[in-house]
Amino acid sequence: MLDAQEITHRFLDTKLQVHPEVVRYILENNEPDLIERIIAGVPKDTIVVSAKYIPGIHPTRDGTRFLIDPSVEVVSGSAGTSGCVNGTSDYLHYFRDRYARLGGMIRSRVGAMPIEGLIRSTRYRQEECTVIGMVAEVKNTTNGHRIAEIEDSSASISVLFRKDLPVFADAQRIIYDEVIGVKGKLSNDGRLFFAEQLYRPDIRIDNTPFRSEQPGKAVFISDVHVGSNTFLEGAWNRFADWLSDSDFGYLLIAGDLVDGIGIYPNQESELTIKNIYEQYDAFGAMLSELPSRMKIIASPGNHDVVRGAEPQPVIPDAFTKKFPANCTLVENPAVVNLQGVRVLMYHGRSIDDMIGLIPGASYEQSGLMMEEMLIRRHLAPAYGRRTPIAAGKTDRLIIDPLPEILHTGHVHIKGITNYRGVLGINAGTWQSQTLFQKQMNVNPTPALAVVVDLQTLVPETFSFA
Ligand SMILES: [Fe+2]
Repeated sequence: MLDAQEITHRFLDTKLQVHPEVVRYILENNEPDLIERIIAGVPKDTIVVSAKYIPGIHPTRDGTRFLIDPSVEVVSGSAGTSGCVNGTSDYLHYFRDRYARLGGMIRSRVGAMPIEGLIRSTRYRQEECTVIGMVAEVKNTTNGHRIAEIEDSSASISVLFRKDLPVFADAQRIIYDEVIGVKGKLSNDGRLFFAEQLYRPDIRIDNTPFRSEQPGKAVFISDVHVGSNTFLEGAWNRFADWLSDSDFGYLLIAGDLVDGIGIYPNQESELTIKNIYEQYDAFGAMLSELPSRMKIIASPGNHDVVRGAEPQPVIPDAFTKKFPANCTLVENPAVVNLQGVRVLMYHGRSIDDMIGLIPGASYEQSGLMMEEMLIRRHLAPAYGRRTPIAAGKTDRLIIDPLPEILHTGHVHIKGITNYRGVLGINAGTWQSQTLFQKQMNVNPTPALAVVVDLQTLVPETFSFA
């Protein structure tokens, strides 16, 4: 057991002065490697080691300090859970699971009958009733109405949403493979269902998100794209310095950690690091520069080295040898629990699909796109388009349980929203405009970080541009 003088000397040996508060803490907490852990977490140019460099120390609201180790629990999406794809039987399981769970959410609010029962009985040609189905086909008619073919395990039916009814506005946003409920009446010949109301799985209007009882702050970013010649190294260094002076407990990164290799034609000419291992090594070295007391959680995106089909597996060990021990790798999507606050991390490739399918949607409104996911309780409703989905036995892209925070990326444009108590965050990117984005007229919002106070769930945006 060391005394106060020996502790001070141990720091002086590494050319560091130490604040008496830290010495007192070390004396009170007889942990064998604590001094080494504190020294390891101190940024290079530090002169005095203050209490903020003690692992897991957080200020309280009245300015005093107490200790709580930032804790991360991976609720879903830990390594090895993404599974492989086993052909058509999983495909059937997958859609059955999607229908049962999303349909169940609608059924918890409104009573519904099987589609077959509706068609068979003549009673419902006079009476209003509700059915729940997955959208197999949807289009506008020549008269400007909207028509959807929906199916459950018993049968399918064409549903007409007339343009002169209030339900039409909701119906315009119907997309393939989402699960909806419709209330209305069947036509006399039993072939068409006239919808009056549309139900989606949605979030309860009285949803009250959990807030941490203990102090803690989490930083949200995505799309770092290390290896690209448009990666903003200077901005990242300013961000890293700022993190070193902070007491934030968590850093979450929602995919596209590196730029990857062969992701798009002629990418090579835009790469500063042309080897995928070296891209991850550079990224790992960047994370190692950040305070070791901070828990880092990183998930993959479509530029990362793993398969593109979602859920995307954890980035394999072979690529993460230079990653620090305080970094936890998770799948895409994943749910992590930070002091009781649940964060659903999803890279957001499906936003490409939704922008094509939802009238009026654009890349500038990633906040709205997150709302569209939450309303449908699904991260990637449209199957078989630009978002590849690995159809496993269960649908891992269903939003259940409901998180406090939905964290996305991919679009490279900042968006923040709050839909029925769920905070949606897309922090943008660490890459300036690429040639491809220039051609597509996409104007990114780089070098932003969003910080959320876990006690209030209030987001704050910081720029390092
Ligand atoms: Fe990206």
